[in-house]
Amino acid sequence: MERRASSPVPQKSPADVTDAEVRCAVYFGRKGTRDLHQLLRRQRPRRSLRHPGVQNTYHLAYRDIPAILSEHVRGRKSLDFGCGTGRSTRFLRQLGFEVTGVDIAEDMIRKTRELDPAGDYRLTPGDDLSQFPPAAYDLVFAAFTFDNIGGKNNDNKVRILRDLARLLNRDGKLVLIVSRPEIYTHEWASFSTKDFPENQAAKSGDKVRIIVTDHADPRPVEDILWTDESYREVFKEARLRLLGKYEPLARGDEPYGWGSERTIAPWAIYVLNVV
Ligand SMILES: C[S@@+](CC[C@H](N)C(=O)[O-])C[C@H]1O[C@@H](n2cnc3c(N)ncnc32)[C@H](O)[C@@H]1O
Repeated sequence: MERRASSPVPQKSPADVTDAEVRCAVYFGRKGTRDLHQLLRRQRPRRSLRHPGVQNTYHLAYRDIPAILSEHVRGRKSLDFGCGTGRSTRFLRQLGFEVTGVDIAEDMIRKTRELDPAGDYRLTPGDDLSQFPPAAYDLVFAAFTFDNIGGKNNDNKVRILRDLARLLNRDGKLVLIVSRPEIYTHEWASFSTKDFPENQAAKSGDKVRIIVTDHADPRPVEDILWTDESYREVFKEARLRLLGKYEPLARGDEPYGWGSERTIAPWAIYVLNVV
């Protein structure tokens, strides 16, 4: 569902651009492919953040990433697989990584280059990662990308994971942030699912719907549900070893109006290496 922009990106003050980036990162970053220009028109600046786009429920996806990466990753060379509009890419860069953002969607790459002309962003048409050197990366990072990789069986995920594993050097790590199935059946600071009771019965590979509540567009977006058990199967098939799994919860002292986040983890973070 791609809607093309008909006008150039409005010129903004630096503060507004930061806010637009926050919004775009949340909006595109989470769920894909709606129009940047519509977003720029609708959203008002709210706050400036050190890591744009990681407030509310997203805060829990990224909060522990610095500690997780410093525990598991040696070296700075990284690839951000499924970079969207570059929220995750810029997050890694701010942590000191040398990072290349890649995405299968031309529109995402175009938009992220508009937002961040200094960044290194590459298009990977048809999942083809052959432009990247094998065994060269200390970290391959994928934030929410696997929520959008379809297929009822394991094939797509296993094929992509194998391709990503080939890019890792001997000590390289793959870090995935994914949605836990519970996100589609509860209420959150950034999401609502109460209008989609059918999500309750969803199995791995089924489409699920969710509304992102902390931006102006109330239309539901679609993800592919994938359970922890199914992730573990595809990791095994892709010959990846699970080194760590994290399910961050809110602590209660954050400046956000939490929904279920204090008792149910919305995200899972997997750290893997090659067997
Ligand atoms: C939900 S967005 C996440 C964006 C970003 N990582 C973030 O956290 O803001 C998922 C992105 O993955 C991209 N994507 C999905 N399948 C992909 C694939 N096979 N190869 C590369 N990118 C892919 C989509 O185009 C989309 O931009």
